[in-house]
Amino acid sequence: MDPRLSIIDERLKEVKRIIAVSGCKGGIGKSVISCALALQLSKLGYKVGLLDLDFFSPSDHIILGAKLSFPEEEKGIVAPEVSGIKFMSIVYFIENKPAPFRGIDVSNAIIELLAITLWNKLDFLVIDMPPGIGDATLDTIRAIKRMGFLLISTQSKLSWESTKRMAKMLKEINVPIIGIIENMQKGSDSFIEKQAKLLGIRFLGSIEFDEKLESKLGNMKSFSQTKFSKQIGKIVPNIC
Ligand SMILES: Nc1ncnc2c1ncn2[C@@H]1O[C@H](COP(=O)(O)OP(=O)(O)OP(=O)(O)O)[C@@H](O)[C@H]1O
Ligand SMILES: [Mg+2]
Repeated sequence: MDPRLSIIDERLKEVKRIIAVSGCKGGIGKSVISCALALQLSKLGYKVGLLDLDFFSPSDHIILGAKLSFPEEEKGIVAPEVSGIKFMSIVYFIENKPAPFRGIDVSNAIIELLAITLWNKLDFLVIDMPPGIGDATLDTIRAIKRMGFLLISTQSKLSWESTKRMAKMLKEINVPIIGIIENMQKGSDSFIEKQAKLLGIRFLGSIEFDEKLESKLGNMKSFSQTKFSKQIGKIVPNIC
């Protein structure tokens, strides 16, 4: 057994709930939803951590406008605070340089990052997961046993078909699914709500396409005041 796995249990022992924000297709809003969810939970007074585990295209630091100075060490690496949220990402170590990880390197880097990061007491740790159900996702499930999955899908049949496959896989391996969020909704009809019902997954709500969102990325105050973030705020009670 990899000895780092028992260190991860120790590192996360004071974290009450771990939410993996996940979905199969790229560009469906996993990162913006992870950041907005962390901010909205923090606004409610919860102690929140945010971990960007997408090593190929880390984005959360851009959305939050986080400064990239090397994190402080203290018998581990202390997750730096960004506007009240404890934030950890591979970008603190690779900065803006490309990081061409191979399969096994990604798994190793994820386990290493989980083993070295000090979160201390948290009510919620939100994880921005890598897309899909490849090695990175499976290794994260193996390393963090207490995760619940928050699935994201757009109304596209293509997005839904792969999310459905992911949901079935999670059920098969007994990983809890918190529910599903429909993102970039256009029109009033919710295709995902109907599909979630058929699959027996809790539907948490829809988020409309917000044309102003892009211009607010990088400024947390403006970002948390967008229609997008407010809609996430309405979904938060369904998650808590
Ligand atoms: N509801 C929305 N309204 C408007 N724009 C949105 C919405 N949701 C996401 N976006 C935009 O879509 C783009 C992709 O979002 P994001 O990067 O969060 O997706 P992702 O699933 O994390 O992608 P990747 O798989 O590459 O990590 C971003 O430019 C984001 O601002
Ligand atoms: Mg992303």
